[in-house]
Amino acid sequence: MKNTWAKQCGGEFREGKVRREDVFVGTKLWNNNHRPERVRPAFEASLRRLKLDYVDLYCIHTPFAFKAGDEQDPRDENGNVIYDDAATLTNTWKALESLVDERRCKVIGLSNVSLRQLKEVFEIARIKPAVLQVESHPYLPEWELLDYCQRNGIVMQAFAALGHGIQPRLLDDPVITVIAKRVHKTPAQVLLAWAVQRITAPLTTATNARHIEENFRISTLPDDAIKEISQGISTRVRLNSVVDTGIPGFIPRAG
Ligand SMILES: NC(=O)c1ccc[n+]([C@@H]2O[C@H](COP(=O)([O-])OP(=O)(O)OC[C@H]3O[C@@H](n4cnc5c(N)ncnc54)[C@H](OP(=O)(O)O)[C@@H]3O)[C@@H](O)[C@H]2O)c1
Repeated sequence: MKNTWAKQCGGEFREGKVRREDVFVGTKLWNNNHRPERVRPAFEASLRRLKLDYVDLYCIHTPFAFKAGDEQDPRDENGNVIYDDAATLTNTWKALESLVDERRCKVIGLSNVSLRQLKEVFEIARIKPAVLQVESHPYLPEWELLDYCQRNGIVMQAFAALGHGIQPRLLDDPVITVIAKRVHKTPAQVLLAWAVQRITAPLTTATNARHIEENFRISTLPDDAIKEISQGISTRVRLNSVVDTGIPGFIPRAG
């Protein structure tokens, strides 16, 4: 969450233009703060930066614990990330549960975890994960994860729903563009409708005003289009490598 957002939103809240309860704010715990005793200070620091007294969602950003400390990207002399073998995902989860107990965040979740890690946390959790945030789009549908989420009441947030805007360009995939022409929508609207209809919550970040407006104007796709996207696309690509190492993947930004 960017500081500019916090400044702007803080102002809008103060002036009464936007009510806090009408906005859903989520933020995440970074990898250097996985030790249970570091969770609360990291969370409080996020609240201070956001100028808020609670968040709606707090997620563990990745399952990778980096060396505990203030260094967000700790490296050894060879430039390799220093991991922290003593921190476990389940202990970090328990520390997040106490934030919910104290009503500092409404729900908690996980991001970039495997099905095995999700199950491991779900099984020990006193407060179950409400959200799983993972990369997902027609090139990485993650059906198995989605099935587990849906059977256990977990919302799957699909990031890079439009393919991060990088190669291979999902927005130019012929299956998507042909459907877009047929239903008189744009490729982005087709991808977002597909994501919503299979009951995921797509995350997209448009900076272009026309894109932002377009992304709100989606409508239901016919069943045959849903089937074509789910079954007719064979490309399989993971665009963001954060899931492999905990090191943030490339997110392109114009300008
Ligand atoms: N959990 C994690 O580790 C993780 C990792 C990465 C991202 N995320 C989350 O996922 C969110 C979405 O990721 P993302 O922004 O990479 O996803 P994305 O929406 O797949 O990609 C954004 C790109 O799509 C373009 N775009 C948006 N709407 C469009 C439209 N209607 N037509 C054509 N192009 C369009 C944007 O261009 P313009 O900017 O020009 O509009 C931008 O280049 C992030 O904000 C972040 O919160 C989470």
